Amino acid sequence: MPDQQSTLTDAGDDLASSTSEASLRRTEARSAQIEAQIAKDPTGFRVMTGDRPTGNLHLGHYFGSLANRVRLQNAGVETFILIADYQVITDRDGTGPIHERVLGMLADYLAVGLDPANTTFYAHSAVPSLNQLMLPFLSLVTDAELRRNPTVKAELEATGDRPMSGLLLTYPVHQAADILFCKANLVPVGKDQLPHLEQTRVVARRFDERYGRVDPARPIFPQAEALLSNAPSVLGLDGTKMSKSKGNVIEIGMDADVTAKLIKKAVTDSDRHITYDPINRPEVSNLVMLTALCTGGDPVEIAAELGDAGGGGLKNLVTEAVNEFFAPIRARRAELVADPGHLIEVLRAGNAAANEVGEATLAEVRQAMNMVY
Ligand code: TRP
Repeated sequence: MPDQQSTLTDAGDDLASSTSEASLRRTEARSAQIEAQIAKDPTGFRVMTGDRPTGNLHLGHYFGSLANRVRLQNAGVETFILIADYQVITDRDGTGPIHERVLGMLADYLAVGLDPANTTFYAHSAVPSLNQLMLPFLSLVTDAELRRNPTVKAELEATGDRPMSGLLLTYPVHQAADILFCKANLVPVGKDQLPHLEQTRVVARRFDERYGRVDPARPIFPQAEALLSNAPSVLGLDGTKMSKSKGNVIEIGMDADVTAKLIKKAVTDSDRHITYDPINRPEVSNLVMLTALCTGGDPVEIAAELGDAGGGGLKNLVTEAVNEFFAPIRARRAELVADPGHLIEVLRAGNAAANEVGEATLAEVRQAMNMVY
């Protein structure tokens, strides 16, 4: 093949259709199969996921993803968790109080039960081999498919009138490097991240087509799969998506008094009779669901027991449930943040382990690209 000829065909439509109804149903069915496989033998999987350190993690994170990560870890699945510090600067001018946020996020992780004995924690900026993969990977994508990536579009819209930075445009490729540097084959995600996973599979496939293999029996990079969780989403205290920028969050590390004050101000409605009806009464139903998640109860039964207790009765109940459930997690977190030296040690050990894995992958990549000198 002549050197200049392109083997790239635009995958923009495939990325967009990864969130179509039919595709979602397939991904959900596949997730159920994977769960069954994990229950039988967790050793065939390597999970990779992470968060950007833009603030403390909150109850939306806990019930939406952290609890699931702990479950997978405890089921025996090897887990890599990225503190995505370079991703912080995709859509903002500076890093903010990044050092504090990285350690705060690590404290959140450890407090909820993620364990450095079973899980590797690391930061983008500390793993050069991960970032170096970005370079060959960028040669495997077109600007058209990046511009059509629905997640990139949504993130750009969320930044208002900011011009798109090169890093925001290419962050799905960086995310492919996040996943592939450790050859993860399973990524627990929300629906909004499915286009990235499709992009990651496209990159892995194209790398194989273009540069070939070290071991002829298998491609260097696996086809990573999504693991969709069926966790109900916890909304913010105003009934919309829980998000720091909306000021509607309860952070995992907040204390009982602050939690009580925030819940007191939560939006409810004027009907004193409490029901669980997420479509018509999103705010009230969210508080009922939060109670159910914290107590292990059933939302319909909880609503029935509250009966005519009104918004005030509901708020008392949910406050008690949240504070009781998070008390041990919060106590652990307070101990962890009181000892930043220990947090740094955990992160350094994770960074070292991630570097080792990443260097091994990069060595194969150099070999496949005939760049070993
Ligand atoms: N994009 C994720 C977030 O916004 C963080 C992240 C970075 C990630 N790289 C990843 C998640 C790879 C899963 C896989 O929080």
